[in-house]
Amino acid sequence: MITNSKKILIQAYKNKYAIPQFNINNLEWTKYILEECNKNNSPVILGVSESTIKYMGGYKVVVNLIKNLDEELNIKVPVVIHLDHGSSVENCKTAIINGFTSVMYDGSKLPLEQNINNTKQIVEFAKKNNVSVEAEIGCIEGVTGVANENLYAKVEDCEKLVKETNIDSLAPAIGSVHGLYKEKPNLNFCLMAEINKKINIPLVLHGASGIPDNQIEKSLQNGISKVNINTELQIKWANSIREYIKNNDIYDPRKIISSGEEAIKKGIKNKIEILKSNQKQYI
Ligand code: 13P
Repeated sequence: MITNSKKILIQAYKNKYAIPQFNINNLEWTKYILEECNKNNSPVILGVSESTIKYMGGYKVVVNLIKNLDEELNIKVPVVIHLDHGSSVENCKTAIINGFTSVMYDGSKLPLEQNINNTKQIVEFAKKNNVSVEAEIGCIEGVTGVANENLYAKVEDCEKLVKETNIDSLAPAIGSVHGLYKEKPNLNFCLMAEINKKINIPLVLHGASGIPDNQIEKSLQNGISKVNINTELQIKWANSIREYIKNNDIYDPRKIISSGEEAIKKGIKNKIEILKSNQKQYI
């Protein structure tokens, strides 16, 4: 069932579990993620970056691919088609027009007022189209592999942004980084708890690949209701493929690509178990 993320995130927030966002990279990944989430009865947010949209052939291709797989595979769990790190108001609107059910606007590198102003415009447009909106504040590191405390979210900025924009969820920079960690991940739980107490809406943890399970579990107690995972699955998939090619004289792309299926699915199942917390049933 294709849906926006409003209801599933509120439900997760209230009950202290989290919905996984797995980023898709191609048709096969989308299929594996949908199948495994359905098998484990987990709602799923399919994160699609702007570079993936370009890679896969455009907004419409992504939306129709997901909708068609959802139907053909008879997926029963809620599925969200989510723009990950939309870089402009225009791109978020284009995603919405083309059928994305959720968008993240990443104005984190802009001055606060401009971030708020752009986010507000997207929320206004999104609400008319029944689309959910996530915003980012502070700046989640994506280059150095080391979290920069100077870029962490400030509680008062989070309060201001949430109050003025009416977003559905917020991704504050609290110590995670995108991609590989160069130092042991060390989330700032005091800051997370403080932000949660003040804003009272679902929080999003970006860069969850490589974060130890106990820190993820602790995050669920402090408002994190959506957890984004990409790199970890990419590594598992790539390692399997390397091994398969090394051991087999093979040229059929279907066999090569799908030799990573089991590894991806195992990774997904493992994350679902952690995010599900004590929930027997999601919704
Ligand atoms: P990782 O690739 O570090 O798991 O981060 C994914 C993410 O946060 C996508 O927005």
